[in-house]
Amino acid sequence: MAFSNHCSTIQLLSVLIFVLFAGTPIFTAGADDPLLPAFEKWMKDYNRTYDSPTEKLQRLQVFKDNFQFIESMKNQTGLTYTVGLNDFADLTNQEFLQRYTMNRPLEPSNESTPFMYANVTSIPSSIDWRTLGAVTPIKSQDSCGACWAFWAVASIEGINKIKTGNLISLSEQELVDCDTTCYGCNGGLAYNAFQWVVQNGGITAEEDYPYTSGTTGTGGTCSNTSNYAATISGYQYVTAYSESDLAKAVANQPVSIRIDASGSAFQFYSGGIFSGPCERNLNHAVNAVGYGICGGNKYWIVKNSWGTSWGESGYIRMKKDICNNAGLCGLAIQPSYPTK
Ligand SMILES: *[C@@H]1O[C@H](CO)[C@@H](O)[C@H](O)[C@H]1NC(C)=O
Ligand SMILES: *[C@@H]1O[C@H](CO)[C@@H](O)[C@H](O)[C@H]1NC(C)=O
Ligand SMILES: *[C@@H]1O[C@H](CO)[C@@H](O)[C@H](O)[C@H]1NC(C)=O
Ligand SMILES: *[C@@H]1O[C@H](CO)[C@@H](O)[C@H](O)[C@H]1NC(C)=O
Ligand SMILES: *[C@@H]1O[C@H](CO)[C@@H](O)[C@H](O)[C@H]1NC(C)=O
Repeated sequence: MAFSNHCSTIQLLSVLIFVLFAGTPIFTAGADDPLLPAFEKWMKDYNRTYDSPTEKLQRLQVFKDNFQFIESMKNQTGLTYTVGLNDFADLTNQEFLQRYTMNRPLEPSNESTPFMYANVTSIPSSIDWRTLGAVTPIKSQDSCGACWAFWAVASIEGINKIKTGNLISLSEQELVDCDTTCYGCNGGLAYNAFQWVVQNGGITAEEDYPYTSGTTGTGGTCSNTSNYAATISGYQYVTAYSESDLAKAVANQPVSIRIDASGSAFQFYSGGIFSGPCERNLNHAVNAVGYGICGGNKYWIVKNSWGTSWGESGYIRMKKDICNNAGLCGLAIQPSYPTK
């Protein structure tokens, strides 16, 4: 009896010591956390390392919140889309928006232009510019808020392919470095970028002016290559707040759209037809490269610039023809496209 008591005292002590140490981040960051194995697997899958146990513990806390959000979405019935762990699972939504969308709030332009597709009466029930060869592979803006450059370039690549037959990947870095009407890694507008390309007399190929701001997080020095791979003649806006006019434009070429990308559902979107929640605070810029219908649900095919680990290999299908004429996440508020 005495022996047994002695023994349990030692066991109790060692449990106590274990608990004390397990709770001390310096020694074993979050070692007692049931989600630690999932976090470490994710770190391995996404090649993530942290400088200190303290940072790892902080990121574990963020990961747990995101993990729980994703689990809670799995329990929702009737959703037409899924969410899942991706490259962004250790970022809070605020950090995510700060890093991957435009930090600078930009007012919609008041400029008005003709809309060359206004009288288009017949459009296909679905179109996918990817299968028509007018879309380059998914790119990655990384830690530079230059979605606007990707937003402009994808539409220029599209119209250039449609008019010349050549799909050429074009340089976002040239816009980030040289277009002083925009703010480099801190935001910009596609129509300013289109105007820059018109005035500059063209835009250089990606291979001749590769993207470097993804790792540096800032713009570089403008280097005038004078070796342009594509030109445009101007740009136009689609009728604001009209998904039907947006469809007329997208039936004819990839179109640059502004959207609200706020919310953890957008951050962790992994597939299907996204239906919100989102607001209409236009903080991100993407490209509508087609539209279609699946099981009665209409959608836009949208190219993003967050790499291929996000969404449907870098794309998102967004619900089309919703009751609000701003479109889902404001996608119909201010679409624009280059002319050639
Ligand atoms: C993982 O990160 C290391 C160090 O940054 C890098 O050298 C390696 O290429 C990465 N591997 C993958 C698969 O991304
Ligand atoms: C999801 O539903 C399961 C089964 O009903 C439940 O056990 C679990 O706690 C729920 N998870 C969340 C995060 O709501
Ligand atoms: C558009 O017009 C409104 C009202 O006149 C003005 O407040 C806003 O600053 C203008 N936006 C731009 C981008 O010029
Ligand atoms: C559309 O049709 C109207 C009426 O025929 C015409 O005035 C207008 O110029 C046309 N717009 C375009 C962009 O072709
Ligand atoms: C680059 O050089 C061309 C030809 O000299 C000139 O037309 C163009 O404006 C220059 N662009 C910039 C950004 O300096």
